[in-house]
Amino acid sequence: MAKFGFIGFGHRGINMLECLLDHIDGYEIVAICDLMEERVEEAKSHFEKRGLKVPFATTSEDEFFNVEMDGMFIMAYWESHIPLAIRAMKKGIIPGLEVGGAYTIEDCFELVKTYEETGIHTMLLENCCYGKTELTVLKMVREGLFGDVVHCSGGYHHDLRKEISYGVQKKHYRLRNYISRNCENYPTHELGPIAKILNINRGNRMLQLSSFASKTKGLHKYINDHIEDLSHLKDTQFNQGDIVTTVITCANGETIVLTLDTTLPRAYSRGFTVRGTNGSYFEENDSVFFDTEEDHKFHFDWYKHFRNGEKMREEHLHPLWKKYGAAADGTGHDGIDYLILKAYIETVEKKAIPPIDTYDTASWMAITPLSEQSIKMGGAPVAIPDFTKGKWAMPREKSELEFALD
Ligand SMILES: NC(=O)c1ccc[n+]([C@@H]2O[C@H](COP(=O)([O-])OP(=O)(O)OC[C@H]3O[C@@H](n4cnc5c(N)ncnc54)[C@H](O)[C@@H]3O)[C@@H](O)[C@H]2O)c1
Repeated sequence: MAKFGFIGFGHRGINMLECLLDHIDGYEIVAICDLMEERVEEAKSHFEKRGLKVPFATTSEDEFFNVEMDGMFIMAYWESHIPLAIRAMKKGIIPGLEVGGAYTIEDCFELVKTYEETGIHTMLLENCCYGKTELTVLKMVREGLFGDVVHCSGGYHHDLRKEISYGVQKKHYRLRNYISRNCENYPTHELGPIAKILNINRGNRMLQLSSFASKTKGLHKYINDHIEDLSHLKDTQFNQGDIVTTVITCANGETIVLTLDTTLPRAYSRGFTVRGTNGSYFEENDSVFFDTEEDHKFHFDWYKHFRNGEKMREEHLHPLWKKYGAAADGTGHDGIDYLILKAYIETVEKKAIPPIDTYDTASWMAITPLSEQSIKMGGAPVAIPDFTKGKWAMPREKSELEFALD
């Protein structure tokens, strides 16, 4: 049975730990760590109250890395992601890395270099790749139902004004990032599933991007509206634009549009959209439109078919959702936390190439620093490096993992 460490017990770390302890077996957690003593204590209490053996627990990264383990959940804040992953890989540990963008392109190259020197992959734990809709559409794309896919878009549309503004009280990393940076800081929830659909790093690659940031108003307004709690932020200047739009071009001719949208009022969405020569899927109204006489009859009153995505998911459901849907339902983020954890545990157990490997991780995380450069230059195109050094164009063997995203 594979042994795992677990580092980072903020809100996310605790949720993922609970999902593991309550819903998944076939692994062992041997060490837990957080920089903050009270968070280590909270993590311990989740083992204690379930009558489980408490793993070795520490606030020291060095002590944590002295424990023998095969894999390691990294649920830390963004600044720690790549340094922790590299340290793990150098020790022969396959890290499972929570999502977030990188800070520099050099860090992304370092991640790839570490894989190439050690043979140990890192796996980005991009749970949205396992979304019921995203996986079902992936399957339909592979079956040719959308024809040639020419354009995809998506966004991280999530009103985070409270989480960001209360960052001092919550000791949360997002606040400092929104003050100091202006970039597409969270690209992978939408880019991950799109990259799989477009075979990025497996016959295709992202070539260049242009990013544009709107002005910054949402947080200032929110802080003024909650000034009794947030007076310490009264004069804070935020750098992060409210809406960041990124256009990416791909080697096989497709375009991708990503939107970061986290500081204005709205309902949650990932805006997942796939446009092909035979049909299109639109998450915003959960509908699939095919190039059929029947669908064209509703060209101007398509609202009558809003939510026909439900029928699409019934008819074309991805095998992973057929098999694990019941177990996943009711777990975090509509079941995708369960599925990504299962995928990562399978990867470590089999010491296999992860479904989201180091090249995917590096190229998806690289969007953040590249978007920062492009925004600074008024949206000028910036080249996206080929982290695979040409291997993206070579044929790849199909993964034998049950949780493959081929
Ligand atoms: N996939 C998803 O759906 C999803 C949802 C929420 C958050 N996240 C991701 O989860 C991560 C954590 O988010 P959060 O909201 O829990 O953050 P948080 O800041 O509340 O918690 C992070 C914790 O990591 C600890 N930490 C940071 N660096 C460390 C290090 N080097 N050693 C030990 N401990 C360290 C911090 O002390 C803190 O307790 C982020 O990367 C975020 O993007 C993903």
